[in-house]
Amino acid sequence: MKVLIVGSGGREHAIAQSAAKSPKVDKIYCAPGNAGIGQIAECVPIGAMEFEKLAAFAKGQAIDFTIIGMDDPLVGGIVDVFEAEGLKVFGPRKNAAILEGSKAFSKDLMKKYNIPTAAYETFDDPAKAISYLETAKLPIVLKADGLALGKGVLICNTLEEAKAGVKEIMEDKKFGAAGNHMVVEEFMTGREVSVLSFVDGKTIKIMSSAQDHKRAKDGDQGLNTGGMGTFSPSPFYTKEVDEFCRSHIYQATVDAMAAEGRPFTGIIFFGLMLTKEGPKVLEYNARFGDPEAQVVLPRMKNDMIEVMEACVEGRLSGIDLQFEDNAAVCVVLASDGYPVSYGKGFEICGLEKFEGAEGYYCFHAGTALKDGKIVTSGGRVLGVTAKGKDLKEARANAYKATEWVDFDNKYMRGDIGRAIDEAE
Ligand code: AMP
Ligand code: GLY
Repeated sequence: MKVLIVGSGGREHAIAQSAAKSPKVDKIYCAPGNAGIGQIAECVPIGAMEFEKLAAFAKGQAIDFTIIGMDDPLVGGIVDVFEAEGLKVFGPRKNAAILEGSKAFSKDLMKKYNIPTAAYETFDDPAKAISYLETAKLPIVLKADGLALGKGVLICNTLEEAKAGVKEIMEDKKFGAAGNHMVVEEFMTGREVSVLSFVDGKTIKIMSSAQDHKRAKDGDQGLNTGGMGTFSPSPFYTKEVDEFCRSHIYQATVDAMAAEGRPFTGIIFFGLMLTKEGPKVLEYNARFGDPEAQVVLPRMKNDMIEVMEACVEGRLSGIDLQFEDNAAVCVVLASDGYPVSYGKGFEICGLEKFEGAEGYYCFHAGTALKDGKIVTSGGRVLGVTAKGKDLKEARANAYKATEWVDFDNKYMRGDIGRAIDEAE
């Protein structure tokens, strides 16, 4: 079959690689893709938000199955456009992708269906938000309602910071229309875990857990980023945590969406915080995490395409989802300065060292082909991933492999997987 993947990051490279392993797949296209994806797929120069062009391409090439990797097109309704053309597509429709697209929607859903999450209030008037904040307990969390590249969350330690935050989000519109509404949320403490799942509208199957490192600098300092590295599984995701989430969060979310007339098909990513009172939902995403996908997908034993087809056809209950009994660590190689400003166009050397290196992966995030050479083209450049028999071995392997590649301004965190030692 012919598969089209929509997106251009490390996540889409990991998806493309899993698709390439499927015996069902003859040919992969990726729009727009990147230089690494281009080695296993044909990259098509159509943007992820050009729904009509993408659907026309899929029809013209007789694509059998399309996978949407990114949040923006999902929230914008790409799945509805494809379905209207009779095309088979993996991902939630617009009315279900709102689970990620609006934090106010997801908070209201959790409240209505008793799914554990932080206490909150929603505002569309900055003056009302400020008078609420004047009596609220600190620290407090402000969230722009809509999509903001993972950056629309402000943790405020003082009333002054909170007031400035309201101005940034709702008045200055630092995150654009995402800030028309704002959620003010109780500050929670605890370990964060990312749990990805396949969903077919009714049934949910949980993947192996992972943990991200969102801050730019070692010791969880610096600005929030899309994610600087991941490991899977999380040693903090115990059997007890899993049982709690299965009975209070996972199926409850799928059932709530169905009950609201918004059946969810695709990936639900549960951002969880393991608080003293038990696991609570920090956020939902309607797609694979990036870089979570880079440590979870390589450990999946199933044919990913078969699982995704089962989701679209509503027969996920018949799938036995299985993961390898090992671990994986991904260290993101970024361009120094990310997530603020950084240079681009630096040649990347050493990529060939990954060829034939079993259990090692170099997922491309921001790379491009220029005059026959692979160069940096984004803030997050590569996701260097390695497996190991356990987390420590995987971490040592991943850091060893970060030495194989080089480019000007190469930057990485030195402490990805620091929680692995804290778990002992
Ligand atoms: P989100 O995009 O909602 O996942 O938020 C980004 C990051 O902000 C999360 O990964 C947490 O580290 C942090 N965060 C979000 N909400 C809260 C909260 N209620 N309490 C503490 N930290 C939070
Ligand atoms: N790594 C976090 C995310 O994909 O949202």
